Amino acid sequence: MCGIVGYVGEEQALPVLLDGLRRLEYRGYDSAGLAVQAAGGAVTLTKRSGRVEALARAVAAGNGLFSSARTGIAHTRWATHGRPSEENAHPHADEAATVAVVHNGIIENHHALRDELVARGHTFRSQTDSEVVAHLVEEALAGAAGTDPGGCLRAAVTNTCRRLHGSYALAVLWQGAPGVIVGVRHQTPLVVGWTAAGMLLASDVAALLPYTHEVLPLQDGELVVLRTSGAQLYAADGGPLPAPRPTRVQWDLPAAERGGFAHFMLKEIHEQPQALAEALRGRLGPRGPVLPELEACADAVRAAGRAVLVACGTAHHAALVGRRLLERSAALPAEADIASEFRYRDPFVARGDLAIAVSQSGETADTLAALREAGARGAHTLAVVNVVDSAIARAAQVALYTQAGPEIAVASTKAYTTQIAVLALAAVHAGRLRGALDAQALAAWSADLARLPEWAQAALMLEPRIADLAERLARANHCFFLGRGLDWATAMEGQLKLKEVSYLHAEAYAAGELKHGTLALIEAGTPVVAVFTQPELAAKTASNVAEVKARGARVLGVATASLAAIAEPLCDDLVCLPEVPALLSPVIAAIPLQLLAYHTAVARGTDVDKPRNLAKSVTVE
Ligand code: M6R
Repeated sequence: MCGIVGYVGEEQALPVLLDGLRRLEYRGYDSAGLAVQAAGGAVTLTKRSGRVEALARAVAAGNGLFSSARTGIAHTRWATHGRPSEENAHPHADEAATVAVVHNGIIENHHALRDELVARGHTFRSQTDSEVVAHLVEEALAGAAGTDPGGCLRAAVTNTCRRLHGSYALAVLWQGAPGVIVGVRHQTPLVVGWTAAGMLLASDVAALLPYTHEVLPLQDGELVVLRTSGAQLYAADGGPLPAPRPTRVQWDLPAAERGGFAHFMLKEIHEQPQALAEALRGRLGPRGPVLPELEACADAVRAAGRAVLVACGTAHHAALVGRRLLERSAALPAEADIASEFRYRDPFVARGDLAIAVSQSGETADTLAALREAGARGAHTLAVVNVVDSAIARAAQVALYTQAGPEIAVASTKAYTTQIAVLALAAVHAGRLRGALDAQALAAWSADLARLPEWAQAALMLEPRIADLAERLARANHCFFLGRGLDWATAMEGQLKLKEVSYLHAEAYAAGELKHGTLALIEAGTPVVAVFTQPELAAKTASNVAEVKARGARVLGVATASLAAIAEPLCDDLVCLPEVPALLSPVIAAIPLQLLAYHTAVARGTDVDKPRNLAKSVTVE
């Protein structure tokens, strides 16, 4: 995710800003920029595509302004709207660079605001959603004068926030208010830090730790005015709040980078409610899901005779779910293929088929090659991808971004659940285009998808119980995962996660398939994880679980609340999921299995975030 740093104080701002950006690099980014303010108020911006070091070289070569400034804001950008480039890097400014803004989050109504601002004569330099904020603040400041320039800037930012829909953490400078930074938080973190010689602002404690352990995370809706002398807090309605009281963080730097979690994998598992909210943000209307990007190929979607999804590893498991979603919601025959198999099997692709690549990194060589192969054979190409402007995003005719933020752990977690969420959005939107869903069904889909973050949060509450169960599993040599239908996809994902981080041998089977050979491996005490989320298949799965139980397996059931009664008599242990619509259950059922893999790995003492032999992006075939 993007990173924000701000400093106002007695020291030079530049070293603090650059150091802060370097400490936020672990979050992932593709460009960086900063704005400093001269003593008289003038604001100077510098941005670079690529690394923070490129930015550091640019300012080192610049004039003395950079070294003399005592106030500044800085940003690392991880592209979500608009490709990674210098023009799209933050800070953004109005035409005359009187206002500079850095932003984390997504402004959902940026198209409408941009149109409005352009109609009033504003000129935009970037494709970002964020630039509207600079122009809105500049308009709100028009004619501002008086004895309290900081108050004017605060009022302008408060008024601007009333126009914004979406999520944002903002830091704003104005040439009319020297030595003032205004920060505001809405659904995206922002933390204030106190030092002896000034005040700091950052999206992440990691940027503050070299300078202070005295910090205050802002609450949603809070606005802060920073001056060298301290901080004043205000509510969303503009009313003053009591004087802020910092708390002391005990974290060292590595712990801060992981947000206090022991590993990035655990942090990313816990980020799923937020990541799902971002994946769905601005895409759920009362009359059904809307993926504006899909409108660009609406005719192709209407006319398609078939869809083929190509992906590797975890993304392939998301594709297995996507296949079912397309069939059920869009009445579109669909297949999901392993990308490395698809590309070499002389695949049958009819002109007008849809080929959908699914990838977190957007760089996986086999997935990229499979997508190109399908395109060359006449398919219309789409990509469900996390990294903006990545090779797969560029190779596809239409990119549907998952907006999950950077995934750092090798084991994919939040990328998987957001891939399914975006595939569901795409399938339902396609269902509308193809006339497969009526108004009532579309509205029901919006309502169900909107609850994914809440259900994910409920699934995370299972962690203490799962950590206990993992202690036992960690002593096993093998583990089997069973499920039918979409529960088979969940089982596949559960076994891959367990294998890759704990090094415990695991296999997943379509539950009905076990007795055709693998049942021979079940003996007294063999751990089996059985997934029950599909009402029409639960009784069948139960019969298969009875078969392993009869041979001495120790069964852990993962069941939705309404299916617990079917699972319970067969299971030695049972974890209960919130009641979720069957087609969306893979999103929620994945979470306890991710936690099981994580805690088993911790119990076995493996290198959880960087498992042996594995790479985050597999750019070779
Ligand atoms: O970046 P991609 O989604 O294309 O990566 C595909 C696989 O390499 C990836 O999902 C891999 O299986 C993960 N390490 C699993 O956790």
